[in-house]
Amino acid sequence: MNFENYTEQQLIEYIKEAKKRLGERLIIPAHHYIRRELVELSDFTGDSYKLAVDVSRTDAEFIVFCGVRFMAESASVLSKPGQHILLPEMDAGCPMAEMIDEETATAAVEKMRNVCDNEIAPIVYMNSYADSKSFCGRNGGAVCTSSNAYKIVSYFLNRGKSVFFFPDYHLGSNVADKLGIDNSLIVRVGRDLSLEKGKNLRDAKMFLWDGFCPVHQEFTIGDVEDARSLYPDATIIVHPESDRKIVGLSDMSGSTQQILNEITESPEGAAWVVGTELTFVDRINMTFKDKTIASLRPSPCHDMVKINLYNTAVAIQSIEEYLIGKGDLKNEINVNKKLREGARAALNRMIDIVEGRDI
Ligand code: 13P
Repeated sequence: MNFENYTEQQLIEYIKEAKKRLGERLIIPAHHYIRRELVELSDFTGDSYKLAVDVSRTDAEFIVFCGVRFMAESASVLSKPGQHILLPEMDAGCPMAEMIDEETATAAVEKMRNVCDNEIAPIVYMNSYADSKSFCGRNGGAVCTSSNAYKIVSYFLNRGKSVFFFPDYHLGSNVADKLGIDNSLIVRVGRDLSLEKGKNLRDAKMFLWDGFCPVHQEFTIGDVEDARSLYPDATIIVHPESDRKIVGLSDMSGSTQQILNEITESPEGAAWVVGTELTFVDRINMTFKDKTIASLRPSPCHDMVKINLYNTAVAIQSIEEYLIGKGDLKNEINVNKKLREGARAALNRMIDIVEGRDI
């Protein structure tokens, strides 16, 4: 079947029929930033933590992951033997994840060890590739996501360690703020490995890599001021990948799932201004017709949008053909054994800390 001339409706019909044919052998998880038409076809949605956990608990043989590459990679790392993870478009990446790699993280930690009295625990944000996660797993650290960064960082600080938090400067900075860490003990680490001047390096609590998310980097103080005057009764909720000043001026912050939960639980007539990715804000605006939901500033993710009905149908078709011996799986995500072990340890450490298991 060649989907090139298929209409949107025909692609939807194909995916629905293929899902019936494949039954429990196929699941389609979708991140909240994914296009609405795919979210409607998906088996479940979530923020990056919920997706990682939910996917790791499924026994489906084929997982067509509607999200970006680092998410599919994490699903692959946590998968069981015999499971196949497919990403509809390999080019759906993440600029922030590319702002560091294992080699650079190794050199950065070495610099910290030379100046700081405490042991350094590396904590990598989910928005990173398997080499960075593997580095953390092998060095006693953990992964974190926006929904649990506070908990993960606290876990290590409470054990007397200092933290290297990467690659998102802003999420790290927001956690440091919430923890009340003195500014002199928070050190920005430049991409040239320079350590911020004028800080107390010996006692530093958090070293923050200078990475950022281009979507959330867009929000300005002016946007918050405009939202306050346009929607005086609205609650402003933003994603913690936004600058600390934006989070400070807003009423709440949280992961995509936490944003969705807050809006779902709010009473009829509630008004919200949401500071995160545009496709998601548009979708919740259409879902909650009894509430006012406005975007802090329209800021789309140019990678999530690359996952569409067409390439999802192509990925699913490759499964159907593979099962009758007519071809290979399209865009299967595999993480090599060496990286997989460390990355798995770092992901599982996150899940254990969040779920309160004694590690
Ligand atoms: P969460 O879904 O965990 O809030 O993260 C959003 C994101 O950064 C996706 O790239």
